[in-house]
Amino acid sequence: MASLVVVGTQWGDEGKGKIVDMLASQAHLVVRYQGGNNAGHTVVVGGEVFKLHLVPAGILYPQVTCVIGNGVVVDPQVLLDEIAQLEAKGVSVKSLRISEKTQVIMPYHRLLDRLEEESRSDKERIGTTGRGIGPCYVDKVARTGIRMIDLVDPQALKERLEAFLPAKNKLLTQVYGQPPLELEAILAEYRVYGERLRAFVADTSVLVAAAIREGRNVLFEGANGTLLDIDHGTYPFVTSSSPTAGGAATGSGIGPTVIDKVVGVAKAYTTRVGQGPFPTELFDEVGDRIRERGKEYGTTTGRPRRCGWLDAVILRYAVRVNGLSSLALMHLDTLEGLPTVKICTAYRYRGQILQEFPASLKVFQECEPVYAELPGWPEGTTQVAGFEGLPAQARAYVRRIGELIGAGVGIVSVGRERSQTLVLEEPFGK
Ligand code: IMO
Ligand code: MG
Repeated sequence: MASLVVVGTQWGDEGKGKIVDMLASQAHLVVRYQGGNNAGHTVVVGGEVFKLHLVPAGILYPQVTCVIGNGVVVDPQVLLDEIAQLEAKGVSVKSLRISEKTQVIMPYHRLLDRLEEESRSDKERIGTTGRGIGPCYVDKVARTGIRMIDLVDPQALKERLEAFLPAKNKLLTQVYGQPPLELEAILAEYRVYGERLRAFVADTSVLVAAAIREGRNVLFEGANGTLLDIDHGTYPFVTSSSPTAGGAATGSGIGPTVIDKVVGVAKAYTTRVGQGPFPTELFDEVGDRIRERGKEYGTTTGRPRRCGWLDAVILRYAVRVNGLSSLALMHLDTLEGLPTVKICTAYRYRGQILQEFPASLKVFQECEPVYAELPGWPEGTTQVAGFEGLPAQARAYVRRIGELIGAGVGIVSVGRERSQTLVLEEPFGK
């Protein structure tokens, strides 16, 4: 029995949804600890595709309690839509609980996300998902946010809005030349959300702590990714929360001593959406091939993802800042059929070799990948039964990654279905 964090090791979209869904079959509770509906976690069961943005990817198992932790920012309209869509597919959300302390995304957060992006120069533009995530976290830190506990209390909601909407309207009208937002209209809309979400709201820290105390398997579901972390990511081209494993403690209301393991999720290559440097990015037919075979289009925004070779400097960094116990390597099948495959083992910066991920974006921008080139493997890996069934070159590629990053590869994924997963080491330890 263990508590285990699942964290993205790259720029998001690593396949966290699939791994959380797989591990949730053995779990009692799954908790999302940060981010919001900038996340898009896809789970495929028997050909049916579930795209989750806010609800934890444990919801497909009726026995699993699903928690939206205090570190998350919740757009109530989006959450209610997602609940309705799940119910329409016959999935019960009876077990869902939302922390009283989650911050609520308000209409002005979505507006400001868009207006701030539009006002940035091409060089400064972040390429956010436009969901109001950043502005909502700004209000949290500025202590002007509205929490779930306020949303379900009409009087508190009114008091908080009366206190802070005037400043938002000043910003909207005077800085951005927009019409002001009406307090009564927001109140009327958000009161209804509060009514509909009230039954889900709870002191979720108590629930998570109780599950751990009772010795149950607990999963902490990270969103976004290590390189999108506000502290450890490629700042300023990052999201506004702490996707790295440390965020699991603050974002769900437990202490770090109760976390047993951290599983990192990485694609067998690298992708990125939005702006910012990307040393191994491919602009040729190999990049296009990866995008098409890997279906590399955003779950949340539909944007084509930038694709490139695997970057072991990034993964070594992810091993360090997350304390990774092991790695789940996704989309290995996407690389099949290539004559050779490459792994970036270090960066070359102005004639110098860098082994560590640089903090300076200016340095990172100029980094050129130093590649190890390995033989590719033939097509037909999506149906293999176990790791040993993979072609020798594919196994060598996986083993080389483990050596380069200093963490073992415990899971290899060769397709979207639950069954297309090769387990070398059970994360919960069976
Ligand atoms: P999942 O959980 C990929 C990126 C955005 C943008 C930057 C900031 O599906 O892996 P934000 O809207 O968060 O302020 O945007 O972060 N980004 C993601 N990219 N997958 C995600 O989540 C992401 N969440 C945020 O594209 O570059
Ligand atoms: Mg995504």
